Amino acid sequence: MTHNVALKPLNTFAIDVLAHHVVTAHTEAELLMLWRQANKENRPILLLGGGSNVLFLESYSGTVLLNRVKGITINEDNEAWHLHVGAGEIWHELVIYSLKRQMPGLENLALIPGCVGSAPIQNIGAYGVELQQLCEYVDILQLKTEKKSRISATECQFSYRKSIFVKHHLRHDYAIVAVGLRLRKTWKPVLSHGDLTKLDLHSVTPRQIFDAVCTTRRNKLPDPAMAGNAGSFFKNPVLKAKTANQLLTHYPDAPHYLQPDGRVKLAAGWLIDHCKLKGYQLGDAVVHDKQALVLINIGQATGDEIAALARYVRRQVAKKFAIWLEPEVRFIASQGEVDAIGVLS
Ligand code: FAD
Ligand code: EPU
Repeated sequence: MTHNVALKPLNTFAIDVLAHHVVTAHTEAELLMLWRQANKENRPILLLGGGSNVLFLESYSGTVLLNRVKGITINEDNEAWHLHVGAGEIWHELVIYSLKRQMPGLENLALIPGCVGSAPIQNIGAYGVELQQLCEYVDILQLKTEKKSRISATECQFSYRKSIFVKHHLRHDYAIVAVGLRLRKTWKPVLSHGDLTKLDLHSVTPRQIFDAVCTTRRNKLPDPAMAGNAGSFFKNPVLKAKTANQLLTHYPDAPHYLQPDGRVKLAAGWLIDHCKLKGYQLGDAVVHDKQALVLINIGQATGDEIAALARYVRRQVAKKFAIWLEPEVRFIASQGEVDAIGVLS
């Protein structure tokens, strides 16, 4: 166990704060043991995967518990491969692993940073695919009762950037320890988004989709190793059809996506871009100049500085479009997670 540890290498925003302790669990037994120990010392606990969806507002006064419970097992039947994956596996490595073994299905979700255990929390998605289409179950360990339970995909209540785990996000009394995935043997390419529409539906291979997704992402999104960021800072707003249509009458070019329930998803990046905020800077916090939905740390930005920029962006968008964006990123203060909208209001 280490004391007063720098969290900078453990969060992709590269916010330079400390945690009182940082501990690593490689097995479920270790996870429980470390949880009990932190409880005994009366310290709050923060579970962390790759730290790619968090913003540290200040130093963390408790124990950061890195979930590195690994392992992949595969079962198959006539219809599908069933993968049981430890929460500590790296998501992108799992994508490569499955493709190498001729089990397609994850290719559209290439290059999403972070751990497998975090993927169900916000129902990760990209290029027309969301985790909910592939997830069979999530195994959790209730830390207080030390009981393990399996939550079916239906019980996870997945929707756009949401699940039962987001709803319970302020209570950290459970750990996701494994995720079950189902990859169908009758593979259907998903080519609905961006450059993927240029590929030929009849001859395309999973590897070509994987390559195209990686190329697009490398061109558009800043590499956290070069400029700290947590991907999209805000979620795309999903509006009632009537509200969306009013906006679209004024801005017919605004990208929009009809949802199965009749609502309409708008592109938050486009809204921010149309407020002319690309490149807008507050200290070392900057609106990315290729993708306005991404806020970046160009050096020594503090969590408060990033939050101040997010507050400014949110207010400008509300002023111009009467839409209040909701953060996707989770805000962490000294005692644990805090309500991000509250911080930005
Ligand atoms: P962390 O940031 O470590 O944790 C996120 C939250 O989950 C925290 O509240 C944490 O306490 C909690 N948590 C972590 N592990 C556990 C566990 N085992 N049990 C219980 N709670 C836990 N997301 C997308 O959906 N699509 C994208 O295309 C995408 N692109 C991105 C691109 C970049 C460059 C970056 C930096 C981020 C991107 N993201 C994207 C966001 C991010 O990668 C995902 O949200 C990812 O799933 C976060 O994983 P993580 O392990 O880093 O989570
Ligand atoms: N756009 C602009 N200006 C910008 C940014 C975007 O006009 O500065 C326009 C684009 O031209 C496009 C539309 O907005 O017409 C949507 O942009 P893009 O395709 O880049 O996707 P996004 O909606 O901004 C979402 C996810 C990403 C995911 C991509 C690819 C959310 C909040 N973000 O971004 O996920 O990788 O689609 O599918 O849903 C993340 O969650 O961290 C993340 C990166």
